[in-house]
Amino acid sequence: MSQARIPLVAGNWKMHKGPAEARRFAEELLGEFAKDRTGTPVPGHRPDVAVFPPFTSLPAVAQTLRGTAIAYGGQNCHWESKGAFTGEVAPAFLAELGCRYVLVGHSERRTLFGETDETCRKKLLAAVAAGIEPVLCCGETLTEREAGRTFEVLERQLRAALAGLASTASLTIAYEPVWAIGTGRTATPAQAGEAHRFIRNWLVRELSPAAGGRTRLLYGGSVKPDNFGELLRQPDVDGALVGGASLELASFRGIVGAATSYLTGLI
Ligand code: PGA
Repeated sequence: MSQARIPLVAGNWKMHKGPAEARRFAEELLGEFAKDRTGTPVPGHRPDVAVFPPFTSLPAVAQTLRGTAIAYGGQNCHWESKGAFTGEVAPAFLAELGCRYVLVGHSERRTLFGETDETCRKKLLAAVAAGIEPVLCCGETLTEREAGRTFEVLERQLRAALAGLASTASLTIAYEPVWAIGTGRTATPAQAGEAHRFIRNWLVRELSPAAGGRTRLLYGGSVKPDNFGELLRQPDVDGALVGGASLELASFRGIVGAATSYLTGLI
């Protein structure tokens, strides 16, 4: 990563942790990460931390984390602001709870719930309009990688989802190779580094040099405490979107700790 971008460690809880458990866990996270021993946040020596609880756990997490150094966000949203869309949640509802982020186009949403590049584009624009930073997830399947089509897939996903986005909009991108999600098979630092470099160059070219320089690119896919340090050493890897290892305090602490050690080493 670059010193200009503060690393972000984000926990995607997926369909885990109901309201009571989420509140307890948020309290534990607050004790761990929000403050140093004197009670003062220490930006610069610590990565940013965020969590993505299920919708129904968001109010409990918001009550615990609102106004603290730990951000939170939704795992999904709809693109309309209201209407007859049973089961959907508008970006403004997330904003009302103090959500800073929303995931858009996670591969589980794409493969299990029929999300397309086009719905990602609409969600992304709607999130930005509601004042929420989208975390656009992209990444190739194993078949696509083995066919040498990784960059082509990334390019298609980025071009479609980011069409019409103002180059001044705040955005995070998570590169999550589908074959690495929940499989224990992490991309090597070289594989992640190469994909992230491709995404960064694309953003510089197609959005603007400023947007390319400031946008955080997270790696996701079987991130663990013992593989994250190496991934973060890649110049264009600015953090992680963590699934399984974000559910337990010990493993999440280990990943945040790897980022903290990396930052401390830079100073
Ligand atoms: P994983 O999930 O860390 O369990 O592989 C990552 C994700 O789906 O965001």
